[in-house]
Amino acid sequence: TALPDSHPLVTGATTVSPLVRALRGDRPERLPVWFMRQAGRSLPEYRALRVSTKMLDACLDPELSSEITLQPVRRHGVDAGIFFSDIVVPIKLAGVAVEIVPGRGPVLESPIRTADDVARLEPLDPAALAPIAEGVARTVAELGETPLIGFAGAPFTLAAYLVEGGPSKDHVRARAMMHSDPETWNALLTWAADVTGAFLRAQVLAGASAGQLFDSWVGSLSLRDYTERVAPFSARALSHVDDLGVPRIHFGVGSGELLRAMLDVGADAVGVDWRIPLDEASRRLGGSTPVQGNIDPALLQAPWPVLEAHVREVVERGKAAPAHVLNLGHGVSPDTDPTVLTRIVELAHSL
Ligand code: CP3
Repeated sequence: TALPDSHPLVTGATTVSPLVRALRGDRPERLPVWFMRQAGRSLPEYRALRVSTKMLDACLDPELSSEITLQPVRRHGVDAGIFFSDIVVPIKLAGVAVEIVPGRGPVLESPIRTADDVARLEPLDPAALAPIAEGVARTVAELGETPLIGFAGAPFTLAAYLVEGGPSKDHVRARAMMHSDPETWNALLTWAADVTGAFLRAQVLAGASAGQLFDSWVGSLSLRDYTERVAPFSARALSHVDDLGVPRIHFGVGSGELLRAMLDVGADAVGVDWRIPLDEASRRLGGSTPVQGNIDPALLQAPWPVLEAHVREVVERGKAAPAHVLNLGHGVSPDTDPTVLTRIVELAHSL
């Protein structure tokens, strides 16, 4: 491996952590659990820190990004941190004018729609990733034996924002470009794969013990479009960490028909949303892949006995897979009562 000697997977600090063991296909004594979007507005301590700082400015401030990453680890006792940043951070660092509008999501000053728009995109200067590497290094130093997960947006989900210019329902413009101008589509996804791959690589080199590729909006694609026009670029994004040997998780929403294809781009574990039970997901994956998921985030609002029964069922069904990392089927919503998340961690660790 090309990891530095100080990396926690080289020193051994995180090598036998429940998360890393599970992602490598093992069943540790303690079921590992973390939550997508565990950092963020569900935590009062996050809201207090963020009051005067814009989202993307917070992501580029190593002291803030590190502190925000650590908050849910301290509070909930989860088995991993996930680096506080955003999928559009590397795009911004590559020079695209993008902002995160509260309550909406990433919005571009000018959408990328034509061959000329794509030709004007600049590659990402690796030096621009310094605040990310520093934020990760600070976080890992504090986390000790708890692994940090690095992440990146997959090329399709990034393209869904780039082409639409902001959040959209079915990503129609992006899906239209894929078919009406395949050359421009390929150029755009190649650029996105390299920018997002460099972002993931920087986090891993700085100390992340695993990586997750988020293809949140992949559920709007047919299996054929995914396989032919998207998967090669997701594989290209992940190839940026091929030589580092860290476990890689691949997650999408509404991805039931795509699970096997998402595994085949080079993932070690697959994140499953709430629509498919984990035993069925494991079957679709071929039965030898660790799964992550898939508590229905809606049930975080349900009375505890209802949620508890659901979590127990998720854990039972997860036993069909060789290994399981407990998580939600998508992110924590801002109105979630954080004490509920702590309770899920306690339950998972008691099973
Ligand atoms: O705890 C964590 O999960 C770590 C950090 C993280 C954020 N975004 C922080 C964030 C991660 C891994 C992401 C990834 C991300 N960003 C994805 C993929 C995961 C997913 O949720 O499907 C996507 C699609 C985005 C794009 C994005 N960024 C959206 C849709 C939003 C929400 C906008 C809103 O206000 O509702 C953001 C902003 C964002 N990213 C916030 C956080 C904590 C909210 C910012 C705030 O505090 O206002």
